Amino acid sequence: MESIKAVSYPIHFKDKAYSALSDLVNNSNYSTLFILVDENTFEHCYPKFIKNLQTDKRIEVIEIESGEVNKNLETCMGVWNAITELGGDRKSLVITLGGGVITDLGGFVASCFKRGIDFVNIPTTLLSMVDASVGGKTGVDLGVLKNQIGVFANPQMVIVDTDYLTTVTEREIKSGTAEIIKYGVTYDTTLFNTIKDTSDLDVSDLIFRSIEIKNEVVLKDPKEQNLRKILNFGHTLGHAIESFYLESADKENLTHGEAIAIGMVCETYMSVHLLGFPEDKLEQLKSTVVAIYGKVNLLQQDFTDIMELLKHDKKNVNGQVNFVLLNDFEDYKIDCKVPENLIIESMNYYNS
Ligand code: GLY
Repeated sequence: MESIKAVSYPIHFKDKAYSALSDLVNNSNYSTLFILVDENTFEHCYPKFIKNLQTDKRIEVIEIESGEVNKNLETCMGVWNAITELGGDRKSLVITLGGGVITDLGGFVASCFKRGIDFVNIPTTLLSMVDASVGGKTGVDLGVLKNQIGVFANPQMVIVDTDYLTTVTEREIKSGTAEIIKYGVTYDTTLFNTIKDTSDLDVSDLIFRSIEIKNEVVLKDPKEQNLRKILNFGHTLGHAIESFYLESADKENLTHGEAIAIGMVCETYMSVHLLGFPEDKLEQLKSTVVAIYGKVNLLQQDFTDIMELLKHDKKNVNGQVNFVLLNDFEDYKIDCKVPENLIIESMNYYNS
């Protein structure tokens, strides 16, 4: 598979990826490689990674606990302390080996350590392959509020090796599928139709096309002034729903993709009512989402809390919630204001 060229770094796929990484590591004057893992990626991904990396450089492994609840500044402090105690300096390289928590947090840790050291992303989940590892967003959550603290910083390289997908659960794969659906409905309907019509998916092709799309969007609008906002489709209400489940001790957490899939259905419903998005396509999206994820029953009594969480969305300006909505598939409108009753109605529609 051909490599993809991002703004200042390459995205390499499987075959040539590890030799490219070994070249990068050996031909730069890096002092120590810090490999950031969690307990799962250390057990299931690190052995393959280390077998393929050809270098004599000093390697230190730093392990953090898996899970979104650990994507916070306290974990960053632990990693910064570990790098410091292990003699990290300005020529250290951080290699993130894991899902979105590891790549987002690791990129942030690297970007702040001694005002910024290099990092490489090796995503091991579908979600991090098609979204988190590419595009330069790094950061952590603030309490349950998603990605509130962070900086834009680009890795030196991204390596996408789909073999790692054999180490994650079916539920994790479905979580990443939501981002592919997002690219499908906002940018390239072929992707959505493939997922809608076929259960026998060639995941490598879907990943490649998704990364191509994300890269195209980010190249045109790296700092999210306009076009990049389409990557937030479904995420405005979706993040609020995800945060609500994270903070509700009596409810099982939703995966990012499960929450975003609900968000996409609701935001498409808003699009029907505000922008005349075609209703038959809303039905197609809803039935695809329900077929993949089943149905979560959003309780009326929880709507107030979800609406409250919406007020913290990163796109808000002057307390106004800004949605990305669709005139049609592949035809978006940014900065849409949506009346509260329509947001509630959209959740009722999802439930119906
Ligand atoms: N995950 C959305 C973005 O990278 O812009």
